[in-house]
Amino acid sequence: MCGIVGYVGGGNVYDILIGGLHRLEYRGYDSAGVALESPSGKLSVYKTLGKVSNLEAFCKDKDTDASVGIAHTRWATHGEPSDCNAHPHYSEDGNIAIVHNGTIENYKIIKDALTQHGCTFKSETDTEVLAQLIEYVRVTNNCSLVDAVREALKEVIGAYAIAVIEKDHPDTIVAARQSSPLVVGIGDGEYFLASDATPFVEFTDKVVYVDDGQIAVITRGEPLRLLDLDNKESNVDVKKLKMSISQLEKGGYPHFMLKEIFEQPETLRDCIRGRVVEGGKRVILNGVFDNQEKFLKAERIILVACGTSWHASLIGKYLLQDMCRIPVEVEYASEFRYSNPVIIDRDIVIAVSQSGETADTLAAIKIAKKMGAFVYGISNVVGSSIPRETDSGTYIHVGPEIGVASTKAFTGQVMVLTLLAVCIGQLRGHLNAEQVQKLGEAILKIPAYVKETLKLDKTIERLSLIYTYAHNFLYLGRGYSYPVALEGALKLKEISYIHAEGYPAAEMKHGPIALIDSEMPSVIIAPKDHLYDKIVSNVQQVKARGGSIIAIVSDGDETISGIADHVLKVPDVPECLTPIITSIPLQLLSYHIAINKGKDVDMPRNLAKSVTVE
Ligand code: AGP
Ligand code: GLU
Repeated sequence: MCGIVGYVGGGNVYDILIGGLHRLEYRGYDSAGVALESPSGKLSVYKTLGKVSNLEAFCKDKDTDASVGIAHTRWATHGEPSDCNAHPHYSEDGNIAIVHNGTIENYKIIKDALTQHGCTFKSETDTEVLAQLIEYVRVTNNCSLVDAVREALKEVIGAYAIAVIEKDHPDTIVAARQSSPLVVGIGDGEYFLASDATPFVEFTDKVVYVDDGQIAVITRGEPLRLLDLDNKESNVDVKKLKMSISQLEKGGYPHFMLKEIFEQPETLRDCIRGRVVEGGKRVILNGVFDNQEKFLKAERIILVACGTSWHASLIGKYLLQDMCRIPVEVEYASEFRYSNPVIIDRDIVIAVSQSGETADTLAAIKIAKKMGAFVYGISNVVGSSIPRETDSGTYIHVGPEIGVASTKAFTGQVMVLTLLAVCIGQLRGHLNAEQVQKLGEAILKIPAYVKETLKLDKTIERLSLIYTYAHNFLYLGRGYSYPVALEGALKLKEISYIHAEGYPAAEMKHGPIALIDSEMPSVIIAPKDHLYDKIVSNVQQVKARGGSIIAIVSDGDETISGIADHVLKVPDVPECLTPIITSIPLQLLSYHIAINKGKDVDMPRNLAKSVTVE
């Protein structure tokens, strides 16, 4: 997590860095800071606890004139959020300043060694250790900053994206990456550096994605250089960025989360575009068609992901099993990577990740690849690490998701998994032409149905007032609606801080039913599907114990509508497509409850959008 920004050029360095930090604030907001170097080589560091707006207030009366600078918004891993632990960190002699995203696993050993050499430390962070190490190497070897960074990084175990500037060198940033994202933007006589491209989208569309193990030497007026730790230079591959500034703004909505919920008809249309063709007759994913052999021979699919992406993956399991009749496993990436997994070369491992940067998911696919699996990525962020590490894949194309709570990325992931299942199903002969066409036609109608479902917003806003102060919630569903229940509960937890449990509705009687009383509302996801009659019994069981029920049902529903306290009716769609529709009211419910409670829905406490640490 953490967002880092850097700039060298003739623009207003401070304004560019602060603007960039605002865009990256979704990555962490424990503290923020800048290191600015004036044209005469004076290095100043300003940093403070809290959000970027605090930093701006702090810097109001400070001298911010600079020709180069680096900045940081933190998600603390080593040391509590505080002024002192905020980045940038600097060496004891004040010669270099550094910002860092990631964790240095062997920081304690390095810290102890440096202490023996007389270094003293101000903060509890692993990052300050890195700052001191680089400066120690620079002074001891009497070498340049680039060489010092190179040598120092050889000693480091862990994950990092760093940017370093040095006193008396007001034209250079040295940056490096290992397992944390880093991109360079090339402008006209200026360079930008950031954790993703959002901070410089209005300035340039020329980007270079720094690779693991690379050091970027960014000097005004000189070409960008990329070196490895052995000083071997590599070619600079400039890519064109496809992102617009309007995608990064709230567009009249009070919060990014609400904007992103309401964007879903459009984002799903973008996700489907060019993939469901000839009026629904054919479903084409190039990532599958270009690797037909792999998908034909596959004996098992393993989905790896975290959080909301794991919930989407669980829906993927139902979809792939139903349509392809292939065994599917779903693993938390953080468990998979350390589980000594059994992988064979006929396995396909699918990594699902909005950011494409989640450290655990990235590590999981590296292991799977090493063990011979064919690795497929489903991601949103073009050029991010996961799509670059995988053998093939599909972007969900829902545009930048800024709200920390994932909404449009979730429905985009489920949509791509649906397309994937249809695609593999037709390839392996489990779906005939008629079935594909039926599914294709239904998929094409989904954006319109999502639009229809969003009309429930006002009803849900009113409903939310009744339940704002509940302390616990139960979310129940069966089959395709079970992962939807998990996702609904996670959304509520994340942004309203209300305890919520998602559960398979039939499992409830094996334990959680004991929790039910008049204080414990249950949200039951019960669209018309092959388990409808079964879930009716579960609804009765909750009612019999005095629990209140909010039910998400299909249009035309009568049975559950007659039992539940509140009913939200959604368009009736084929069973495999219900998750995309039924998750919409759950997103809105969590949003309104959090707003009623006065919570910061876009930046919930303790969370960050992109989890690039273990
Ligand atoms: C979603 O609301 C969460 N903030 C979180 O669970 C997220 O889905 C998870 O961290 C995975 O992120 P990824 O999709 O970028 O890999
Ligand atoms: N480890 C650093 C710190 O705690 C950076 C954290 C991160 O990138 O999330 O400050």
